[in-house]
Amino acid sequence: MPAVDCDIRDVKLAPEGRRRILWADRDMPVLAQIRERFAREKPLQGIRMSACLHVTAETANLMRTLQAGGAELVLCASNPLSTQDDVAASLVQDYGVRVYAIRGEDTDTYYRHIAAALDHAPMLTMDDGADLVSSLIFVAIGRLHDVHPRVREWAERLGRERCRQIVQGVLGSMEETTTGVTRLRAMARDGVLQFPVIAVNDAQSKHFFDNRYGTGQSTIDGIIRATDVLLAGKKIVVCGYGWCGKGVSLRARGMGATVIVTEVNPIRALEAAMDGFLVMPLAEAAKLGDLFITVTGNKHVLRGEHFAVMKDGAILANSGHFDVEIDLKALREMTVEIVRQVHPHVDEYRLRDGRRLYLIAEGRLVNLAAAHGHPPSVMDMSFATQALTSEYCVKNRGKLAARVYDVPNEIEDTVARLKLASMGIQIDTLTEEQQRYLAGWEEGT
Ligand SMILES: NC(=O)c1ccc[n+]([C@@H]2O[C@H](COP(=O)([O-])OP(=O)(O)OC[C@H]3O[C@@H](n4cnc5c(N)ncnc54)[C@H](O)[C@@H]3O)[C@@H](O)[C@H]2O)c1
Repeated sequence: MPAVDCDIRDVKLAPEGRRRILWADRDMPVLAQIRERFAREKPLQGIRMSACLHVTAETANLMRTLQAGGAELVLCASNPLSTQDDVAASLVQDYGVRVYAIRGEDTDTYYRHIAAALDHAPMLTMDDGADLVSSLIFVAIGRLHDVHPRVREWAERLGRERCRQIVQGVLGSMEETTTGVTRLRAMARDGVLQFPVIAVNDAQSKHFFDNRYGTGQSTIDGIIRATDVLLAGKKIVVCGYGWCGKGVSLRARGMGATVIVTEVNPIRALEAAMDGFLVMPLAEAAKLGDLFITVTGNKHVLRGEHFAVMKDGAILANSGHFDVEIDLKALREMTVEIVRQVHPHVDEYRLRDGRRLYLIAEGRLVNLAAAHGHPPSVMDMSFATQALTSEYCVKNRGKLAARVYDVPNEIEDTVARLKLASMGIQIDTLTEEQQRYLAGWEEGT
């Protein structure tokens, strides 16, 4: 019998999950330090928090940190395929966190779980992709016909007044990923954002490292686990040369692949070219690639016209946030037979002309669906930033407006310094003369 209310696969998986959480914790020293301080100072005492994040061992260590600070937590999944069921079990059983997440849950269950997180009447929210906040905003502005039916049912059961109270009770919200920040900025632009949001993704202590090195390594890891392909000698097409795309391209080249980058932004395309990658339109790259990886945050990047010219045996993977980057409807329409799980995590699409394309993880985040997501060491920085930003929201309660804020510089600085210290790296400091020189204008040639 689970210790708290929850909806998880099986609480008996807790011992394995606990081992996984503690293993990750060894490589999350910054978060551990913050947890020790939070346990002493209790900056989140009495704060109800709902988090919609990938339910992984690293997230569990963030939950332990927020809980040490006094937060009352509910956690639901931010992706139906990324939940580690054993970790969910351990969070419930060993740490008393209410978790609503089951790996492979259908869309109905996914939104039923989001409704459970909203029902907690959170004072702080934490999102990865903005599904939690966007559901709440639809409710807040009365667009119940646009929200998923499970959330609509929840809102109708509660009634308008209680929903209004819940929205008004949100002190602040943190967003973990690029796609979520894009959605939140669009809400602010449309004048529907109802509470302050901090764009944790945009912190340098987050995207410089997590998006680049975390996604770079774990995306390649997920593809290798799913397919066992040798990357050396392959032509890998990376769609999007943003922070994630840079990391994926760099690591793919490191494995001996020829990397082709496709972009729509001229600066990013130029950067890719000067970093030594081939750059060309996707229409051309589609004919050459052995493996395609989308990391754009955009929709229908790989679509019918590209599938039509791909080589027999080409592999398709997505590491962007939502499963919309590969046009699955178009792929299905060109397909005569789908062989599910031809290899774990891989579906074979047999096209009318006899070619076969292989889709990994149903087009969902390959690094979380087919591997364990980012390594703990890099999530240490992202989640340290999340924990300190949560504290910041509580300290500044009532002072922030309903808009998207950057993470304060002091938090970024603290996270970077703690991480360097944990790696045994020291750096120089400016002399007084240098400080004066950098602050002045009088000295020239
Ligand atoms: N897999 C993960 O664990 C993980 C981690 C972090 C971020 N993400 C997600 O990955 C995606 C990318 O994040 P990012 O931080 O690199 O974003 P970014 O904004 O830095 O980069 C995205 C790039 O894609 C390009 N792009 C957009 N449409 C394109 C198209 N049709 N063809 C080619 N290029 C196109 C943009 O010009 C941009 O350079 C987002 O959805 C983000 O949420 C995933």
